[in-house]
Amino acid sequence: MALAKTAASGGATILPEVLAFGSSLADDLHLFHEDVVGSLAHVVMLGRTGIVPSDTAVTLGRALVALAEEHRAGTLVLPDEEDVHMAIETVLFERLGVASKMLHSARSRNDQVATMVTLHVRDRARTLGLLATELATLLLDRAEQEKDVVLPSYTHRQRAQPIALGFLFGAWASMLLRDAQGYLALANSLRSPLGAGAIAGSTLPVDRPLTARLLGFAGPTWNALDTVGDRDFVLDYLYSAAKFGIHASRIATDFVDFSTSEFRFCLLDGAIASGSSMMPQKKNPDVFELIRGKAGPALGNLVSLLTTMKGLPSGYNRDQQEDRTVLIEAGRRAESVLRMLLLAIPKVAFDADRCAAALAEDYTTATDLAEALVKSGIPFREAYGIVGRVVLRMKDAGIPLAKVEASLVADIDPRLTSDVLGACSIDGFADRKQTFGSTGTAPLAAQREDLRQEISKVAGPLAAIPTLDQLLSTLAAELPQ
Ligand code: ARG
Repeated sequence: MALAKTAASGGATILPEVLAFGSSLADDLHLFHEDVVGSLAHVVMLGRTGIVPSDTAVTLGRALVALAEEHRAGTLVLPDEEDVHMAIETVLFERLGVASKMLHSARSRNDQVATMVTLHVRDRARTLGLLATELATLLLDRAEQEKDVVLPSYTHRQRAQPIALGFLFGAWASMLLRDAQGYLALANSLRSPLGAGAIAGSTLPVDRPLTARLLGFAGPTWNALDTVGDRDFVLDYLYSAAKFGIHASRIATDFVDFSTSEFRFCLLDGAIASGSSMMPQKKNPDVFELIRGKAGPALGNLVSLLTTMKGLPSGYNRDQQEDRTVLIEAGRRAESVLRMLLLAIPKVAFDADRCAAALAEDYTTATDLAEALVKSGIPFREAYGIVGRVVLRMKDAGIPLAKVEASLVADIDPRLTSDVLGACSIDGFADRKQTFGSTGTAPLAAQREDLRQEISKVAGPLAAIPTLDQLLSTLAAELPQ
């Protein structure tokens, strides 16, 4: 075992087993570019402030850029070290000798790791937020295409009121918009931890506003003691991933249910349906069940880090290294679920006749009838009672509500005229519903338009967040030539 060549990792005396136990290197490697970008900003600042000679800063900066390129090409071999920071420092020493020893001036791994993780969270928030806007757009396009399909909505998984299929797609798009907005808000909330040092800042003249600006943050964090112990932004990220997991699970469950023989509202294309190893007739919605299932560990990741952070004293604590595993897992999972939804949803076809039949045989316009009575001056509670009796009468007669006629219910209340009973028609629901945010034709069109606008308000700023590659090249260009 070749761990712990550096004194920072415990030097010669520490047991290799202890070092291996504490190593975050495997996880850190997923944040390699983030760490290099953070170091590059630090080096530019060290050169500008004169903390290290300008030519040494250039040497260090170029060596860091080379490491990033080699890592991308898969040719970089890193030594076993306690973490990526020590591994990079070790390689730089091998390559640059004594000059490498200036890199860590006015810096601790405590602010370094916080910077690396902050950059990672922002980069992932950008990717996941943009994918969420892509999915929301796909759902709205689909809402538009399936304007004429109507189906029952459900409360308590009991048929409730008629809706347009586009209204269901719009509901899902709204959830995805909130996910994208959450990722953007998270990205915008981030500040640069770099220069906080180990816990209390540095006596060297670090320029924290400069490194914050170089890294594309609104500014540096305000309090070094808080900064090194803070993982709130990781919790926010994990919460976003958990909440998205719940959204994805909700969409998936609708597809799982609606594709059953009991509903038969939709059919999964063979390209996304799985078979059974024993029952030859089966076409299973495994892909949606897996999407639903993955919400479990997404919630677990959040609870895991909340539990790690609970009870920690002020300042940096090594417990915080546990953030890495859940951070990586959560981001990877959320991305795979988003990509799978983008792939799978276009492969689900709705059966318009079957959806309409579910409405035709039921009593889902009962509320519309009660509201028609309200329009003729009857207090709602009284109207509710009258319609309750109408529904009972029709159920006893085995006649769906849309087929009600005045002669069948006139004795219940004389105000149940044919005109009023027209509110039981299924076809008319989309014209009857005119309120903002409802399923009516006009409000639904307005809703799609509004949602599209909100999506573009989020997609633009998300796309404008600098990528790690962009940061790497702008920082490299900041090095004196
Ligand atoms: N590997 C550590 C982490 O990921 C880096 C910080 C270690 N700091 C320290 N003082 N031992 O959190």
